[in-house]
Amino acid sequence: MLTAIGFLLTLFLSAVIYRTFFRRIRRPNEPPLDCGLVPWLGHALEFGKDAANFLLQMKGKHGDIFTVQAAGRFITVLLDPHSYDAVVWESHSRLDFQKYAISLMERMFDVKLPNCDMAAEKAVLKIHLQNQNLPNLTKSMFYNLNGIMRDKMSAAREWKEEGLFNFTYNVMLRGGYLTLFGSTSDYSLNTHCIGEDIKHSEEVYKEFRKLDLLLMKAARNMLSAAEKKEALSAKKHLWQLLDSDKLKKKAWKSSWIESYRCLLEEANVTPEMQSRAMVLQLWATQGNAGPAAFWLLVFLLKHPKAMAAIQCEYEKVFRSNGHSIIQMENISQELLDSTVIFDSVLSESLRLTAAPFITREVLLDMSLTLADGREYRLRSGDRLCLFPFVSPQMDPEIHHQPQEFQYDRFLNANGSAKKDFYKNGRKVKHPSMPWGAGSNVCTGRFHAVNSIKMFVFLLLFYFEFDLKNSSDKIPSFDRSRYGFGVLQPENDIVFQYRRRFR
Ligand code: HEM
Repeated sequence: MLTAIGFLLTLFLSAVIYRTFFRRIRRPNEPPLDCGLVPWLGHALEFGKDAANFLLQMKGKHGDIFTVQAAGRFITVLLDPHSYDAVVWESHSRLDFQKYAISLMERMFDVKLPNCDMAAEKAVLKIHLQNQNLPNLTKSMFYNLNGIMRDKMSAAREWKEEGLFNFTYNVMLRGGYLTLFGSTSDYSLNTHCIGEDIKHSEEVYKEFRKLDLLLMKAARNMLSAAEKKEALSAKKHLWQLLDSDKLKKKAWKSSWIESYRCLLEEANVTPEMQSRAMVLQLWATQGNAGPAAFWLLVFLLKHPKAMAAIQCEYEKVFRSNGHSIIQMENISQELLDSTVIFDSVLSESLRLTAAPFITREVLLDMSLTLADGREYRLRSGDRLCLFPFVSPQMDPEIHHQPQEFQYDRFLNANGSAKKDFYKNGRKVKHPSMPWGAGSNVCTGRFHAVNSIKMFVFLLLFYFEFDLKNSSDKIPSFDRSRYGFGVLQPENDIVFQYRRRFR
């Protein structure tokens, strides 16, 4: 009893000493500061448990810019979308993107690349994932998705039940993996994915999912001893599957993976670390598109009007172009870009489910001028964080009834794409920011959109499908994933599918 009282007393005294002598004091012109009640830890627990709810509460208390303490770090959160450009276009010598990314790379994937030129890596990505290389990626992705779907089709003569999230993530990740990291079969011959690729990509997905489920805790250093063991075992298996020597031998791979591997070799990265870097890249390139396609499908299945509009557009686009989906390997970017209803549905799904933090490290004491002229001082060593999910995406001033899925929210009355949204009477430059913005905007966004479209078109072509129970509710979010891209559902939802061609 006495020991317990002694312990509590020590704790209380330490807290008093900390608050009296070490507590950070807000300086003139700095954003409102909220250190929470617990010394050092601050708001870490609330932040990690449900960032969206926590940041909304802080916004109600302090307004659209404030600094919170979490696990010893000070994070300034900016929630004014009119002012985001001042951050996303700021020079990297003042607001740095890499420092935080590097610390996460190590914590989540055991990757250390001290000699690698990240700017060169970024340039490689830009060249190989966009512009003139996009048609090759599209063609290869179609081929791989088609092969995987046909494999699924052969097992679905009768109605089959499966979790929709698992089905979608599985097909998208495997298709994306084979496209970027390589396959043994040759898509230019217009055959279908061969058994070896089907089997190997299934194994990659299975191991990836084991790891994916533990990554949020890994990012927060909150894995238990047993979970650490499990994460390491999945990583080790993935390092083997994505072994750099094995990747080198693949017959068909994207120009990106080849250049990336050369870049690592030039920086004298060991083969073992190269494999680790590949697993990191697997997550960076495949962690969002599958979940995004899942939400889009759930919203379609729960909103028959939206599903009918998508189906009608799909038939119109393919019929008017004299295409069957099977000839889609020659699909042009122009045709993919002509599906404006699909674009609106995708934008709306992403508005509701994409919740990345846009995070920058403050490298030197600096001032930040907001769009309305307010000027705030930021301290070197702090972190600056935008959370577009709260605003603009769920901001009722910008989007009427923001919690609701409205498939035509991003369409004008004349059917063209709607781009004009307003807050405080001013046009908002980014009414939704699933891809980030500015100099670190997602490099893979065009490939991701094409992939999601092809996946849905192939699903419509090959299968009849529906929710098993039409009364099932749209699953809630796994709230621990706020900050890390597209959210995942807390639980899966069962759907049934059957091949159209008997
Ligand atoms: C729906 C799918 C996707 C979403 C919502 C998404 C979202 C994002 C976001 C929010 C960022 C960070 C922006 C920032 O912090 O400023 C990002 C960066 C990035 N994404 Fe994506 N992404 C998706 C799919 C993809 C795919 C398929 C690829 C690759 C094939 C990809 C490659 C990248 C790369 C390389 C970066 C880093 C860009 C840089 O550092 O300049 N993404 N993505």
